[in-house]
Amino acid sequence: MNNFSFFNNTKIIFGEGQIAQLTQEIPADATVMIVYGGGSIKKNGIFEQVTSALEGMKWIEFGGIEPNPHYDTCMKAVEQVKTANVDFLLAVGGGSVIDATKFIAAAAKHQGDAWEIIQSFGGAVQGALPVGCVLTLAATGSEMNPTSVVTRADTQDKLFFNSDYVRPRFSILDPQTTYSLPARQVGNGVVDSFVHVLEQYVTYPVNAKVQDRFAEGLLSTILEDGPKALTDPQNYDVRANLMWAATMALNGLIATGVPGDWATHLIGQEITGLYGLDHGQTLAIVMPAVWTYKLEQKREKLAQYGRRVLGITEADDLIAAEKAIVRTREFFEAMGVRTRLADYDLGADVIPQVVAKLEQHQFVQLGEHGDITPADAAKILELAL
Ligand code: NZQ
Ligand code: ZN
Repeated sequence: MNNFSFFNNTKIIFGEGQIAQLTQEIPADATVMIVYGGGSIKKNGIFEQVTSALEGMKWIEFGGIEPNPHYDTCMKAVEQVKTANVDFLLAVGGGSVIDATKFIAAAAKHQGDAWEIIQSFGGAVQGALPVGCVLTLAATGSEMNPTSVVTRADTQDKLFFNSDYVRPRFSILDPQTTYSLPARQVGNGVVDSFVHVLEQYVTYPVNAKVQDRFAEGLLSTILEDGPKALTDPQNYDVRANLMWAATMALNGLIATGVPGDWATHLIGQEITGLYGLDHGQTLAIVMPAVWTYKLEQKREKLAQYGRRVLGITEADDLIAAEKAIVRTREFFEAMGVRTRLADYDLGADVIPQVVAKLEQHQFVQLGEHGDITPADAAKILELAL
């Protein structure tokens, strides 16, 4: 096991009816900005639950955060934060809304050009407004981590930053809020959380038994309950298990003391920035291709995953690993998330564009060994056509 330090100070309030707890978590004299997306929370009753919990408090609202949130939209929110003297940000939505809120929180306190926050990967952040969350989509883990991903639409740059200043003070996770998700977002969320675990698990063995078995538990849970969320969308237990699994998948716990891959995410991020595919869709396309390309290096962990999670009984590691790749692709497809570039009308002509973006962003040493160059990424994408 590698050395590590672990820190997470986000309070999680989990369960049905817990949105009412907001009053306990936000200072009574705060001026709150409720940040939300395209309006789903106004159709499914979540906005009413939030505003009735905030009754008697001072609040304003900022809607219109788009999926894969735009820098320009966030900067409009920053203006309103300053005009209305907002001192608490409440994100109500999925990963996009939470990420946007984190960026707004940091940008509101930033001196100078706010894009520096992204360019420095968060190093330039010196402070932030407090952020709280009401999560409505189980997927990203943003509700319990220091990461935010923001897109500059004019240049098609989708990039992340990390800062402890933007870690949510609290996140309310009521599984019932996810009943209204469209099937496409259920699929995306299942794939995203599953891939988060895999990026931290299918690398090379470092004899980290606790982390491996936590990861295997999360994978088994998502594998078992993901399809049920499609066929039985109002099953509370299914939604609860998927929600907690997604949070635990990317809150730092299973990353402790183990190598991380993240090549799939970084290549996928460029595909979304350029062509607008959903985050989960890009992962379903790229991950089987990364694994096929890196089969030899990942053989041992792929075989372990195949045997312990997928129930593959094959004794030979290489064959078990190959079977694990096939089964993973089948799982993504069963969740309604297609796994080939062609499924999204993208062909070989996109490969040079993606490679150019990786180079521009200096993502030139990807993977757990830092040996995936943009030229390798091109070969990986050829396997994903
Ligand atoms: O905009 P609204 O109206 O909220 O509708 C959203 C949106 O159209 C809808 N939705 C959310 N909750 C709903 C709902 N519709 C009905 N009922 C509900 N309860 O779903 C659509 C997608 O929402 P979005 O927030 O974009 O999805 P997700 O949670 O998958 O977030 C994706 C974003 O998070 C980033 C991705 O790159 C992408 O930008 N990620 C953030 C990470 C992090 N901060 O740690 C890590 C991830 O790897 C990921 O990169
Ligand atoms: Zn992700």
